[in-house]
Amino acid sequence: MKRSGRYTYLLGDTPRERARLAFQAKLWDPVSHALFDRIGVRRGWKVLEIGPGQGSLHLELRKRVKGPVDVVERSPVFAGRLARLCRRDGFGPDHVWQADLIDAPLPRATYDLIFIRWVFLFLPNPETHVKKLARALKPGGVLAIQDYHRETLAMVPRPEEWTRLVLADLAFFASQGGHASIGGYLPEMYRRAGLTVEDIGLTVKSGRPGSAVWTWLSTYFLGVLDRYTDFAPFTKLDAARLRRQWLAASRQKTSLLIGPALLDIIGRKPR
Ligand SMILES: C[S@@+](CC[C@H](N)C(=O)[O-])C[C@H]1O[C@@H](n2cnc3c(N)ncnc32)[C@H](O)[C@@H]1O
Repeated sequence: MKRSGRYTYLLGDTPRERARLAFQAKLWDPVSHALFDRIGVRRGWKVLEIGPGQGSLHLELRKRVKGPVDVVERSPVFAGRLARLCRRDGFGPDHVWQADLIDAPLPRATYDLIFIRWVFLFLPNPETHVKKLARALKPGGVLAIQDYHRETLAMVPRPEEWTRLVLADLAFFASQGGHASIGGYLPEMYRRAGLTVEDIGLTVKSGRPGSAVWTWLSTYFLGVLDRYTDFAPFTKLDAARLRRQWLAASRQKTSLLIGPALLDIIGRKPR
């Protein structure tokens, strides 16, 4: 398949990233299951998932439609693992485009539901992607994107370096044309793509040291801290100090981490 060659996916598919995604999915999958309930995903629906990663929600969608679910996944590692998992549930092989979404030759007016969690924040030209997905929906079909409104992210007590971390976080995603806080922009993009915005859901998770939320946020941010020093004004000294404070905060039972808010943006193509 032709590759766009314009875009590097920032987080890759290493064993460490796969373990991080699996942990994150355990924490967050119930929020997506509730979204599937609200949308009313049911047997026989034609569904497309973009960027399933470790695939827990993909298997859930297959279970709900009782059949295969089409996939666009750029990583051969994730796509290969998904194919192995799907051989076990008896719902048949998926149609898989192993490609960047922008290069996948999606059929027109085909899907009852297109679902995407944590992919849009990486994508350059998100509006072009929304329009592409809108074309692939059937009249009456639903586009459901779960992605971040990043601005709730906080550590309490707040380290002096936090504001520079937040700027580096935005710059990291922007380095490949993405937006770490894409969620809030999506409703207008839906409207410009001809979709009716039917619902915008919100979930914010927070946690103390020892909680799954603390582990989820610490694993990501301590894992990328050194890469973030490429993005001024966050410095190597900031990274070293913040890491020390983070580990010290982990030993204080009163510390608090507030995660980035997850928005569910649900839009429908007019009939
Ligand atoms: C952060 S992971 C999220 C995985 C999964 N959706 C979840 O919620 O756990 C992003 C996923 O999107 C895939 N991906 C990234 N950019 C993509 C693109 N342009 N087209 C298709 N898949 C992409 C990655 O390979 C990875 O599987």
